[in-house]
Amino acid sequence: MQSIIVKPTSSLIGTMTVPGDKSLSHRALLIGALADGVVTITGFLHGEDPQATLNCLRELGVGITIEQGYGENGGGAVVVNGVGGKLRKPPKPLYVGNSGTTIRILSGILAAQAFDSEIYGDASIAHRPMRRIVEPLTLMGAKIEGKEVDGQLYPPLKIFGRKLKGINYKLPVASAQVKSALLLAGLLAEGNTVIEEPAPSRDHTERMLLALGVKLHREGNKIQVEGPQRFAGDIEIFVPGDISSAAFFMVAAALGLEADLQIKNVGLNPTRTGILEVLHRMGAPYEIINEELLSEEPRGDVKIQNPKSKIQNSNAQKLKAIEIGGALVPRLIDEIPIIAVLATQAQGRTVIRDAHELRVKESDRIATVCAELNKMGAQLTATADGMVIDGPTKLHGANVKSFGDHRLAMALSIAALCAEGETQIDDVECVETSFPGFFEVLKSVCK
Ligand code: S3P
Repeated sequence: MQSIIVKPTSSLIGTMTVPGDKSLSHRALLIGALADGVVTITGFLHGEDPQATLNCLRELGVGITIEQGYGENGGGAVVVNGVGGKLRKPPKPLYVGNSGTTIRILSGILAAQAFDSEIYGDASIAHRPMRRIVEPLTLMGAKIEGKEVDGQLYPPLKIFGRKLKGINYKLPVASAQVKSALLLAGLLAEGNTVIEEPAPSRDHTERMLLALGVKLHREGNKIQVEGPQRFAGDIEIFVPGDISSAAFFMVAAALGLEADLQIKNVGLNPTRTGILEVLHRMGAPYEIINEELLSEEPRGDVKIQNPKSKIQNSNAQKLKAIEIGGALVPRLIDEIPIIAVLATQAQGRTVIRDAHELRVKESDRIATVCAELNKMGAQLTATADGMVIDGPTKLHGANVKSFGDHRLAMALSIAALCAEGETQIDDVECVETSFPGFFEVLKSVCK
């Protein structure tokens, strides 16, 4: 188990990039495998989670090569030789590591194959609920068995390949993983699949399919695909930097330290930009420059400045507590650990609600975020569907741990920057899941 000591800093200065978007990297591989041609992925996240998807697809007979050289966001381009959705029976059970996105979306594709397969992951995956995909896929004609505990269904999953048929399905929770599993299963199924979401979740799958020429219709919160549908590859997908990774640095620069930070090439898909809305409403100004649309995904550079003169005039830089709930939650679901850190420095009571989904992420983020930040002197109270954070509090160094949750490890590291004394964070290898090199980048901008 690896630990790291993070010392407080007085300023954050520099121009930086973050690794490629995790959600887009998974999707580019999975959708690339369904294509009839070659899909080249530039800006791919060479982190453990997408690597798990890549390994599974190779086991399933998809030829994937990684080019040499360091492109955009670091790391070479990835070339997927699509098999038109016809995978090969894997020689052994498929292992997804820590990746919930892999197990959920890939299960949708496996359910429609001509062979049976088995899929499992690490200790955290063994506790991630799967009924949310198994139920609708079963309605499509799939046969999937899992481990039943107290009415829930957990991995490992045994998937018996079947011919699927399209369905009309209303998602009970806004989940992009479930939506994507059903859309990709729908592409391989017979007939129409219509999915309705209670609130918009990230729409990368829809955008990428459209970029590849798939016929897909969207109206309000409904998405429709007709199956079976084949599509050509032979395109390059450009993956921007992950806004969920950039969020740690945006918040660091908004914590009241001296800051002049520019994060280049950040994905700005509106279904992911809840963090920018939070920064704005809390009173942390930022600027977006160099905006463009590539591979149907908006991107740009995010600039956050907090000059010394403003800090000395302390009234000018007061963060305000806010309430977060409703349709905003899916737009910032992965940023809640770092938003909680920001809220510890805001005046008043920040309330986060409608976020029960946090209970079933890489860790129970309601419990783990509250417990670990409170060890540093923060005042967080866990609620059934979120948390209440009273601020501002002066944080102090402590010995905290990540529970193997990458986003908690990084959120605690940012909290440590504005704490008094040193913070020891245990179990930090997990940052490799989504942000290889996180601590080096952090070190390079702390002056
Ligand atoms: C993801 C969707 C979200 C998110 C996860 C990545 C995706 O999960 O929390 O980190 O890539 O589709 P849910 O679909 O469970 O909301």
